[in-house]
Amino acid sequence: MRKSNRFYFVVTLLAAAVFTFVSCTKEGAQGPPGKDGEDGINGTDGTASCIQCHDNSQIWEAKILQWSASVHATGGNFGRNTAECAACHTSQGFLQRMANGTHEADGTVDNPNPPNCYTCHNIHSTYTPADYSFTYADPLKLWINDAPIDIGKGNLCANCHQPRIPDPLPVPGGGDVTITSPYWGVHHGPQAGILTGNGGYEVGSGYGNSAHTTVVTDGCVTCHMADAYGAQAGGHTWNMTYNYHGHERLNTAGCMTCHTDADVLAIMVEATQTDINNKLATLASILIQQGVFDSTNTIITGTMTADQAGAILNYHMVLEDGSEGVHNHKYAGTLLQNSIESLQ
Ligand code: HEC
Ligand code: HEC
Ligand code: HEC
Ligand code: HEC
Ligand code: HEC
Ligand code: HEC
Repeated sequence: MRKSNRFYFVVTLLAAAVFTFVSCTKEGAQGPPGKDGEDGINGTDGTASCIQCHDNSQIWEAKILQWSASVHATGGNFGRNTAECAACHTSQGFLQRMANGTHEADGTVDNPNPPNCYTCHNIHSTYTPADYSFTYADPLKLWINDAPIDIGKGNLCANCHQPRIPDPLPVPGGGDVTITSPYWGVHHGPQAGILTGNGGYEVGSGYGNSAHTTVVTDGCVTCHMADAYGAQAGGHTWNMTYNYHGHERLNTAGCMTCHTDADVLAIMVEATQTDINNKLATLASILIQQGVFDSTNTIITGTMTADQAGAILNYHMVLEDGSEGVHNHKYAGTLLQNSIESLQ
């Protein structure tokens, strides 16, 4: 059944229930008081609160269209439904582990869903528009170092977009470590660690954060959910870039409250990303020389120094962050530079 058909089916059922009920009470001399309609008023339309969301404003349709084009919907990795992976890759597993306060879902998630409306909003809890409230947007502690963070509405995102804990975890000044998997590392979504300046292998000194860590009060949401450009960027697509006459363009809608000059901003983004990409390339070439990366920058498993393992951790942390330094240039740059120096 199509969604719209399903909705009218439910509405029809509700209407039929109200009708049957009214017919019965009419016949009894003193029937019991009528059951409350969904809006709490006896005898009125039980779907009144539903249609505050399921209306014809088309807002809802736009959100669904944007979400459908997002990597949340299209990424395809929600098949990773074992307890460990389902904690972030499936909607149901996420809600389970958040309710339990653990890092894993209750078990393998059958009929997995990717992150969707029900993951982030309390859809169909009270059947009123209040259900657009967030499921989990409280401040949290990052898994990797227990650091408390608060990035406003972005806390919701940070629950999933944070470094996972590599096993073993190298410690600056600590002993050698043995890495047994080429996939060892902080995983693919460490953004909340980078943005808040947490979770890297902090060898050497000079760590600090760029302005974004503190001035962007809703974190991820401010930049990634700014006004939508069609269903390509912003809003519920969460994408930062869109295609414009064959060129990839940054959606700067969320930047411009602070960065007033678009040309200056473009130069700053370019400079930041070039610097980070150069440092990533330098670090990778050292790791290849030292025999811990192969020529495709894949880990060669075995025993290595804490600084080598830490350099691999930092390389992945900055690379997988995906912003090429824009999230937090200072922290990302220092992690890479200090790792480069620690290996020379
Ligand atoms: C907070 C706004 C909101 C309210 C109030 C609301 N809904 Fe929904 N409803 C949604 C959203 C969001 C979806 C999911 C859309 C999607 O995933 O495509 C949905 C989906 C549905 C569906 C499709 C099946 C599904 O789960 O995807 C039906 C049927 C439905 N709602 C009926 C109702 C009825 C009946 C009421 C009132 C008793 C109601 N809704 C109240 C937001 C709301
Ligand atoms: C329930 C966990 C979860 C939550 C909450 C979540 N995400 Fe995601 N996000 C994911 C997963 C998993 C993927 C990758 C999906 C895939 O590949 O199948 C992803 C993908 C993305 C991508 C695309 C990355 C790419 O490679 O292009 C962006 C951008 C993103 N999320 C931003 C956000 C923002 C912003 C928020 C908060 C409003 C958020 N996410 C909340 C789990 C989550
Ligand atoms: C703490 C949350 C979390 C857990 C737990 C987690 N993932 Fe992910 N994973 C993510 C996020 C977030 C992304 C999307 C990152 C992005 O694109 O920036 C992602 C992306 C991926 C991708 C896509 C990588 C790519 O380059 O497109 C794969 C594959 C994946 N995860 C596999 C797994 C597997 C397998 C497990 C369990 C062993 C797992 N994940 C556990 C959060 C998690
Ligand atoms: C990854 C988390 C996430 C998912 C998935 C998600 N939303 Fe949202 N939604 C948000 C956040 C965060 C905001 C607040 C954005 C802002 O403040 O700019 C929001 C805002 C909204 C609003 C505006 C609410 C208001 O009170 O103004 C609506 C409507 C909405 N979402 C509907 C949906 C629908 C429908 C879906 C499913 C198609 C959905 N959302 C999926 C995170 C999510
Ligand atoms: C200051 C604005 C800003 C903030 C805050 C921000 N991002 Fe980004 N993000 C960007 C920009 C800009 C890019 C790089 C886009 C490009 O060059 O392709 C990016 C890239 C990404 C990517 C790589 C995939 C993509 O869409 O390009 C992911 C995933 C991501 N951010 C998630 C997050 C999450 C999760 C948070 C919160 C923990 C966050 N971001 C906070 C601006 C921001
Ligand atoms: C809430 C305010 C705010 C928002 C929103 C914001 N920025 Fe910034 N950004 C700043 C401040 C303040 C600085 C540091 C002062 C400066 O260099 O202009 C900065 C610096 C930067 C830098 C230089 C590198 C660094 O970290 O010092 C880049 C690149 C950048 N921002 C890109 C972006 C992009 C792209 C967006 C939107 C996707 C964005 N910013 C959104 C306030 C903001």
